[in-house]
Amino acid sequence: MKTLQELQATVQALFASLPADSQPATLYDPIHYTLSLGGKRIRPLLLLAANDLCGGNLEQASDAAIGIEVFHNFTLLHDDLMDRSPLRRGQPTVYRKWNENTAVLSGDTMFALAWQHLLRRPHPRLQDILQTFNRTAIEVCEGQQYDMDFETRTDVSLDDYLHMIRLKTAVLLACALKLGALYAQAPDEEVETLYQIGLNLGLAFQLQDDLLDAYGDTTTFGKQTGTDIRDNKKTYLLLRALEAGDAEQRATLRKLFSCTPQDPEPKVATVLDIYDRLHIRPHTEQAIASYLDQAHALLRTLPQSDADKEPLRQIMQSLVNRNR
Ligand code: IPE
Ligand code: IPE
Ligand code: MG
Ligand code: MG
Ligand code: MG
Repeated sequence: MKTLQELQATVQALFASLPADSQPATLYDPIHYTLSLGGKRIRPLLLLAANDLCGGNLEQASDAAIGIEVFHNFTLLHDDLMDRSPLRRGQPTVYRKWNENTAVLSGDTMFALAWQHLLRRPHPRLQDILQTFNRTAIEVCEGQQYDMDFETRTDVSLDDYLHMIRLKTAVLLACALKLGALYAQAPDEEVETLYQIGLNLGLAFQLQDDLLDAYGDTTTFGKQTGTDIRDNKKTYLLLRALEAGDAEQRATLRKLFSCTPQDPEPKVATVLDIYDRLHIRPHTEQAIASYLDQAHALLRTLPQSDADKEPLRQIMQSLVNRNR
């Protein structure tokens, strides 16, 4: 069994030498730029942690670990264009540094490159692995479309929101854990439990992302804050505020979340003031803790020893205690 530090070092090494000389450079430079900016690399880390927990051989799972991270980075190229986000990992986003067409085509290429990594080596469970990966990719796109559709909808419920983030974010974390288990040829029950852990962890993870978009510090977070409010995103924070607010606060939020002012600053400040008055931040933190608890409870049901589960337990904890 590996320690968390050893798993992190393994992930680090996988991305240490990225090929940088493919042509045309106008297609590949943005790919290299994005992948070399790093990020937390949590999806490959989850994949390898699950693989190790289930007694797998990390070497066998390493191409899938790269593939899932390349896929995630593809979604970010398109997401930043769709969300008009200027910053990612503290640097200009691809569509800003190059242009919109570049974000589209380099992103598309990364999706295909992700497949190339997954197809690199034979494995007895490859059919399951590829099916899981592809179903997940479709679901992420479904979630992303709901996210966009919700910008102009005024009737989004908390359940609609949870369904949306399950698709756009949670299924990919779940897929990472499941693929790790499949590479280890773990029994079906363990594979399914790890998938469920990933779903709960993913919901907590996206709630934390929503929280950081409102309350994070741009320098540490690496993304511009306040953009969810600017873009009328139906986040957990907003939906809770609409539930908890009085008639006047609800009317103000409804009005603000149906406009896109030239200067978003006053809008963001007014919304944050209402969130503060309604204690939305601690409410969101409670919801995060509750999904995390469910993930930990599921982890406890797995047959491995507590010592063997420790790296995954630590990763889960760190994902929601983050500020970036
Ligand atoms: C950002 O993912 C997109 C969401 C699902 C919130 P991460 O927060 O994992 O981004 P990086 O890869 O660490 O930059
Ligand atoms: C993340 O949603 C979902 C995907 C990238 C598919 P966000 O739009 O909230 O992610 P960030 O905050 O830009 O990273
Ligand atoms: Mg975004
Ligand atoms: Mg988005
Ligand atoms: Mg976000």
